[in-house]
Amino acid sequence: MKRFKFKKFIIALAPMAGVTDFAFRKICADFGADMVVTEMVSIKALDNKSIKTNNLLREESSALRACQLFGRDAEAINRVLKNEVFNKFDYIDFNCGCPAPKIVKNGDGCTMMKNLEKTRAVILALVNATDKPVSVKFRLGIDGNENYIQFAKMCEECGVSFLTLHARTREQGYAGNVDKTAYKKLIDAVKIPVLWSGDIKTKQDVEYAKEIGCAGVMIGRNALGNPEIFSTLKNKKPPYCKKQAIINHLKMLKTQFKTERTLVAYFKKHLMWYVRASKNATLIKQKILEFTTLKQIENLIDEL
Ligand SMILES: Cc1cc2nc3c(=O)[nH]c(=O)nc-3n(C[C@H](O)[C@H](O)[C@H](O)COP(=O)(O)O)c2cc1C
Repeated sequence: MKRFKFKKFIIALAPMAGVTDFAFRKICADFGADMVVTEMVSIKALDNKSIKTNNLLREESSALRACQLFGRDAEAINRVLKNEVFNKFDYIDFNCGCPAPKIVKNGDGCTMMKNLEKTRAVILALVNATDKPVSVKFRLGIDGNENYIQFAKMCEECGVSFLTLHARTREQGYAGNVDKTAYKKLIDAVKIPVLWSGDIKTKQDVEYAKEIGCAGVMIGRNALGNPEIFSTLKNKKPPYCKKQAIINHLKMLKTQFKTERTLVAYFKKHLMWYVRASKNATLIKQKILEFTTLKQIENLIDEL
C-alpha cells in the first residue's frame, strides 16, 4: 500500500465549530493557510439532508480542503459519502476529539476514544466509503485514560492517511498547556504523518513542531479575527488588510444567511475578534454587543 505524504510542511486552519465558516476559511487561505478544515459536520444530519448542515459544506478556498465529520452510523457514512458535495474536498477528517457535553453524551467526538473496537468499525467504514484520504483528529484521551498511542495505531491499521493530535485530555477542555512531549511520542509510534494542534502561535512554535517531525500544524484560537497569522508565519505579504478581510467576510456571509437578524448575531462574534487588537478595543466591543442591524456593523467597519 502506498503511504500518504504531504508535499510540504502544512500550516492549517483548525476546524472550529461556529467559527470556521466558508468565508473565514477562504480568507485564511488567501492569507496563506495551506489547508482549511470545515466546522465539524454531523453525518446523521447530512443523512437527513439538513439544509443548515449542507451550508457547512460550502467551500470556496484556494487551499487544501478538508471536511470534518462526526458520527457513528456506518450505514449512514456509506450513504452520505456518496454525495457529490464531497468532490470539492481533498480530505475527509473524522472528529474523535470534541469534548462538548452534547457531543460526548451522544457517544461522538472524544467518546470515540473509549471503545477502540467499536470505533475501528466506524473508521473502517469511512475509509472504505471514500477514495479520498481519511484523517482523524483526537485528544490524549478521556476519563483519565491517555490511550492516544493505542488509538492512533488502531487508526493507522484502518488505513487512515494522517493524524491530528490536540494534546489535551477531554477533561482539560481547552485549559492549561498542551502536553508538548506527546507529539514526538506519537510520531515515533506510527508511520503516518502527524499534525500538531494546540497553542501554535509563533514561528518558534512552528519550527519546534517541524524539528520533532510533525508534518504540519493547525492553528485554532490564535487565528480568531487574525487571518494575518498565516502570512506572518509564512513570511508572506498579506493579500489585503484586516479591514478588507472584515468587509470580504461579511459580504460572503450575506450570501448564506437568510435573515439580517441571524447574520448580525453571528457576525458580531467575529467582529469582536477582529477588533481585539484595535485601539479602544474594550469600548468598541461594548458597542458591538449592542448592535442589532447590519447598518451598525457597516458603520463601524467604515470607521476602522
Ligand atoms: C470555538 C472552538 C470550536 C472548535 N471546534 C472544533 C471542531 O469542530 N472540530 C475539532 O476537531 N476541533 C474543534 N476545536 C478544537 C480546535 O480545532 C483545536 O484543536 C484546539 O482549539 C487547540 O488548538 P488551538 O490552541 O490552536 O486553538 C474547536 C476549538 C474552539 C476554540
